[in-house]
Amino acid sequence: MKKETPPPTTTDAGIPVSSDEHSLTVGPDGPILLHDHYLIEQMANFNRERIPERQPHAKGSGAFGHFEVTHDVSGFTKAALFQPGVKTGTLIRFSTVAGERGSPDTWRDPRGFALKFYTSEGNYDMVGNNTPVFFLRDPMKFQHFIRSQKRRADNGLRDHDMQWDFWTLSPESAHQVAWLMGDRGIPKNWRHMNGYSSHTYMWVNAAGERFWVKYHFKTDQGIDFLPQDEADRLAGSDGDYHRRDLFESIQRGDYPSWSLKVQIMPFEEAKTYRFNPFDLTKVWPHGDYPLHDVGRLTLDRNPTDFHTEIEQAAFEPNNLVPGIGISPDKMLLGRMFAYADAHRHRLGVNYKQIPVNRPEAPVNSYSKDGAMRVDNVSDPVYAPNSKGGPQADGERYPESAVWEANGEFIRAAYTLREDDDDWGQAGTLVREVMDDAQRDRLVSNVVGHLKDGVSDPVLQRAFEYWRNIDKAVGDRIAKGVSGG
Ligand code: NDP
Ligand code: HEM
Repeated sequence: MKKETPPPTTTDAGIPVSSDEHSLTVGPDGPILLHDHYLIEQMANFNRERIPERQPHAKGSGAFGHFEVTHDVSGFTKAALFQPGVKTGTLIRFSTVAGERGSPDTWRDPRGFALKFYTSEGNYDMVGNNTPVFFLRDPMKFQHFIRSQKRRADNGLRDHDMQWDFWTLSPESAHQVAWLMGDRGIPKNWRHMNGYSSHTYMWVNAAGERFWVKYHFKTDQGIDFLPQDEADRLAGSDGDYHRRDLFESIQRGDYPSWSLKVQIMPFEEAKTYRFNPFDLTKVWPHGDYPLHDVGRLTLDRNPTDFHTEIEQAAFEPNNLVPGIGISPDKMLLGRMFAYADAHRHRLGVNYKQIPVNRPEAPVNSYSKDGAMRVDNVSDPVYAPNSKGGPQADGERYPESAVWEANGEFIRAAYTLREDDDDWGQAGTLVREVMDDAQRDRLVSNVVGHLKDGVSDPVLQRAFEYWRNIDKAVGDRIAKGVSGG
């Protein structure tokens, strides 16, 4: 076969260059000339290749696919993407939380499950994790929590003492920590784990009726995990194990999929439910709120440029479409600010014009100018105007995903309900969901973690923390660590 001649190398301005290998010098042995702007372009570009990594969730990867509605949920939401038969293009990014951009995929950590739906009504982002709960219930603690999981100030090392210090002083973390220390704390790969909204969201139907919902993306590949020793081995031999698995599976046509199911709570029931349904440290037991089928998410296209399509992807829980809204979950309310702010810092103010973040729906906004704007802006540049500019349509798009609130400005925890406590659901998980073998691995994982750098008084608090979750498991952990 005849080999095709490659195109000539050019500068970034498209001008052909004469050498890929040699700088411009005064004779073969002389100095380099400052006017060798092509060499300078190469160096300058290289020096600016790295953008800041995401603060949490720096290590990850993703793929494109589609979401197809298989069951009629139009009685609960008017969102176009959830209407019968609708198929919507999607982007997903999976990640770990605490590790840096080059950290191993198999460290014990929750996994991010961030979805962007390119809907006909604008981009809808569902930025979840592979766990149904979280460590905290107030955004004031999120920054402190992430710092406790990352690196110390003095030696730049990760530190289990710091992690358990924070956890044991934050008993609301117990449910998520119990989950994390179990098998699901290290999934076999991203294909073999579930994704959850974790938060409660609001759905609004065409008649304006409101519902509270939680999303569960159940893996169609089946749940699978890595035992601690295998994960440790892989962390040394193949730090990109999960990234590689996803890419290769899609490359060979083995497309992973997830079935979306939702729990639905009628609006008024939230007021009297035995748990505060907006507390992110709690699930709604399936016995109270069963799963309703919605549709299927399938991933079938790999990125072709990791930087522009994955690294520059910007997910934000505040990207909500008509028929979907937030809830009084304080963590979710905090997240409404955090993400777009992070993107403006990480990618610049016009990050929504980067192709991967661009909606497929038309954009008629009044944003203007700023660094790296590439879309032309046209007059009028203000509203209201009498010059034919876009006009908000409050009749067609009312502010319908709302709830009522009244009270003084205070800094306080949620009001406790009948079954609200920090240990109950963690105990249910350990006693009733895990079998003996899973419980054994949980104890072994915690003992290994505590033995790695945790000392008194944090250690004693960790034993009490586990005894509060489950007395027998706590005693076994104390014995495993202290040998007594
Ligand atoms: P169910 O028996 O109806 O559900 C148990 C849930 O636990 C299933 O969703 C199952 O996921 C999941 N699960 C199974 N093994 C593990 C494990 N090793 N680690 C974490 N999750 C696991 O019980 P309830 O709904 O009454 O909930 C009981 C407890 O189960 C909760 O306190 C919570 O800790 C946990 N759980 C509950 C969820 C919920 O939304 N209700 C979701 C996930 C966990 P799968 O079906 O995918 O195998
Ligand atoms: C990433 C903040 C809670 C899931 C991030 C980022 C920030 C952040 C700043 C980096 C964004 C970027 O640079 O692109 C917060 C705050 C929280 C919170 C302030 C609570 C108050 C949560 C919760 C979940 C979650 C509860 C899951 C239910 C994710 C995911 C990513 C992420 C999946 C990675 C998104 C991606 O792949 O680009 N978070 N977060 N976060 N967060 Fe959160």
